Amino acid sequence: MRLDPEGWQNHAGASQADLRPDQLVEQLRGLVPDMVVAGGSFTHWLPDPASVPSGKRHNLWKTAQDEAVRLCLKAFLVTVGLPAIEPEHLPSGSRRWPAGYVGSVSHKGAKVVAILGRKEAFDMVGVDIDDRRKVDRSVGRHSERPPGTSPTLASAILFSVKEAAFKALHPQVNQRLGFNDVFVHWSASSAPLGRNGLLS
Ligand SMILES: CC(C)(COP(=O)(O)OP(=O)(O)OC[C@H]1O[C@@H](n2cnc3c(N)ncnc32)[C@H](O)[C@@H]1OP(=O)(O)O)[C@@H](O)C(=O)NCCC(=O)NCCS
Repeated sequence: MRLDPEGWQNHAGASQADLRPDQLVEQLRGLVPDMVVAGGSFTHWLPDPASVPSGKRHNLWKTAQDEAVRLCLKAFLVTVGLPAIEPEHLPSGSRRWPAGYVGSVSHKGAKVVAILGRKEAFDMVGVDIDDRRKVDRSVGRHSERPPGTSPTLASAILFSVKEAAFKALHPQVNQRLGFNDVFVHWSASSAPLGRNGLLS
């Protein structure tokens, strides 16, 4: 499967398997074995940037990202025995998950991840991938930062955790949450980290 400036090549029959496996996604699978996790990287779908006029690059990348998310969502719905119908967006920006399920989506660069769990087992879920170089490091209090990491990484992790918390909580509380509305506490078993990104 490939996207060129004129559109998709070999797109018929595309599936989540067309994404490249990604370490962050594998880590998430290990972290929540009772949830369905789909995701990966779509860099290989994209043409060489040098072959694309600069004004078209963002649209091409967004087209690929949307398709990657769509394939992940359909894949995990099929996995749990539901029709492969992409959950629509709500006005808040979150998805309308099938009755009885909670889910969450994140994408950064050419990585996407989507997660789905049964409501009877999980009240809520939020997932967030962030580029550690681009997060707001001023977020939160010092006491909320994970122990045992550098100050820079700790503040980046905290930012990502708060974004994930927002995604989990916002559909439940249905009101805007600020970064100081959630307090993060670290237990001994927490703190999943990726080498090339942050996964919360
Ligand atoms: C909504 C927000 C959390 C998205 O995070 P992001 O890092 O920009 O983007 P990501 O790729 O990680 O996540 C995008 C996904 O978030 C989900 N999302 C968007 N709005 C959402 C909401 N209100 N509730 C739950 N999920 C939401 C969507 O599924 C979206 O993916 P999709 O459109 O492909 O389905 C972020 O833009 C935001 O508004 N942050 C400020 C609020 C905040 O974090 N406050 C901290 C409170 S503790």
